[in-house]
Amino acid sequence: MEKAAIDALLKEMQAPTRGEPTPRVKAIVDRVVRDLFHVIEEFDVQPDEFWTAVNYLTEAGRNDEYGLIAAGLGFERFLDVRLDEAEAKAGLTGGTPRTIEGPLYVAGAPLVKGEGRLDDGTEDGEILVMHGQVRDVDGTPIAGAHVEVWHANTRGNYSFFDKSQSAFNLRRTIETDAEGRYRFRTIMPAGYAVPPEGSTDTLLKTLGRHGHRPAHIHFFVSAPGHRKLTTQINIDGDPYLHDDFAFATRDGLIPPVERNADPEAIAAAGLNEPFARIAFDFELKREADALPAAEVQRLRAEAA
Ligand code: BEZ
Ligand code: FE
Repeated sequence: MEKAAIDALLKEMQAPTRGEPTPRVKAIVDRVVRDLFHVIEEFDVQPDEFWTAVNYLTEAGRNDEYGLIAAGLGFERFLDVRLDEAEAKAGLTGGTPRTIEGPLYVAGAPLVKGEGRLDDGTEDGEILVMHGQVRDVDGTPIAGAHVEVWHANTRGNYSFFDKSQSAFNLRRTIETDAEGRYRFRTIMPAGYAVPPEGSTDTLLKTLGRHGHRPAHIHFFVSAPGHRKLTTQINIDGDPYLHDDFAFATRDGLIPPVERNADPEAIAAAGLNEPFARIAFDFELKREADALPAAEVQRLRAEAA
């Protein structure tokens, strides 16, 4: 078809016929439809192929996999890059790098003050102690900041989504102490992989890609007057460290992992077996006017 003929068809189809359209939504939907018409034309997409795509999207929705697909196709990372750029343009520099939230946060995890244990003790994993300080970009410690932390178990599965785990296993909110410090004991997570043969897996394989993430730990760090930080740390040495299907690995988010087998270090940590230790400080940017919100609104799971 001639481009002019497609455009004439679109003009007719996209003319409002009832009431007042919502301008921004209409502009975006019209643009997406126009672009898809041109994709169909350019690739000579046949009706069977079009309906295969519609069926795929229907199934992906039923499987609740859009959060995975958004990450796997790079949309979530792209939104992060855009937020980074908006902050840089507003003169907000420094601070701990953000990286994607992913779809596996659950609201309402228990709050602990200063320190806590994340695992319920049922799994025999390597003990990990992680600790550090929350500061502003000038280096001032932030007391009372909230460090929300969540991660997968030794099989790469997250509580709530994996019904075999106890409620809020490997999830807590830690309130920093008077010196802005947090500390937690947990078990070393394994890397995540998208559900085998699911919608995301099928798509990624068709694109010649895998659906693995390196082992990682998620954080929301928040304090009044500061931009909410959404980030993760990756576990150094993981084979997928620089091959994350969700594009979330960033410089500055791969802290060293110290392994301790020395009896004195074990005793000093209040443990009775060798353990791993990660020290990591968070730096929050100060809130500023006229910036897109750092706190992103999206549908999140909430445990009863
Ligand atoms: C995750 O963080 O585990 C995750 C991120 C994106 C898609 C799926 C999972
Ligand atoms: Fe994750």
